[in-house]
Amino acid sequence: MTPLAQMAAEVLTTADPRAKTDLSRRHAAAWLAARAEGVLPEIGTAEPPDRPARPDRPELLHPRDVPRRKPGTPAGRIALLHAVAHIELNAVDLHWDVIARFAHIPMPPGFYDDWVRAADDESKHWGLMADCLEAEGSHYGALPAHAGMWRAAEDTAQDLMARLAVVPMVLEARGLDVTPGMIDIFRRAKAEQAVAALETIYAEEVSHVAYGSKWFHFLCGRHDLDPKDVFHDLVRRHFHGALKPPFNEEKRAEAGLPPDFYWPLTESA
Ligand SMILES: [Fe+2]
Ligand SMILES: [Fe+2]
Repeated sequence: MTPLAQMAAEVLTTADPRAKTDLSRRHAAAWLAARAEGVLPEIGTAEPPDRPARPDRPELLHPRDVPRRKPGTPAGRIALLHAVAHIELNAVDLHWDVIARFAHIPMPPGFYDDWVRAADDESKHWGLMADCLEAEGSHYGALPAHAGMWRAAEDTAQDLMARLAVVPMVLEARGLDVTPGMIDIFRRAKAEQAVAALETIYAEEVSHVAYGSKWFHFLCGRHDLDPKDVFHDLVRRHFHGALKPPFNEEKRAEAGLPPDFYWPLTESA
């Protein structure tokens, strides 16, 4: 079997989103099947690209130039699905990037299991959103998307603890805050396929935040550091801007993220 870090680099260097997510799911299935048989395949090392390969479309724009549409309209709902699809594709690359970029740091096998599983979930999530877009007569790539999504990866490329603090514990946790409101928008529009897809995403994202919190705490323990203080320090240094309430405190708690981690990072704190 190809070493895991190399599998990760292969996903990162595949541009077509359907090909990227298919390869991601195949690699994840191979890893998880080996692990289920009690085998620990080689992790190896890889040189991931600074930025993952992406298709020519969507056109990537500065967030302020991405047109805003009213969520109550069909066009607004398509724009919302498109934005989520873009986030999910980015998330596929983010999870494989953790594996490839930090492969030199010795971690227990369970760390790779979690990241491979999350990458597989994200690949499925992109597919769910792409299917919803197609059911609405659109497709991923039809609208412009945010150019800044890889910034968090670049800002934390040197530091695994910073990556865990910013990506799963800040950005993916933010997903838990906003997804219920999105589900309501589609429920009001009686868009059943989108409701079901977003509910799947919402349920699975809790585990991604939990993986982040689990391995962040693990690394704090390894280095004898206070998790809360280190989290605040790393987020202030590597994440641009304050965290925005309201927070989904219940789901954040379920994911191992207590209030004293995020409240001190809000603007009013
Ligand atoms: Fe996702
Ligand atoms: Fe996720």
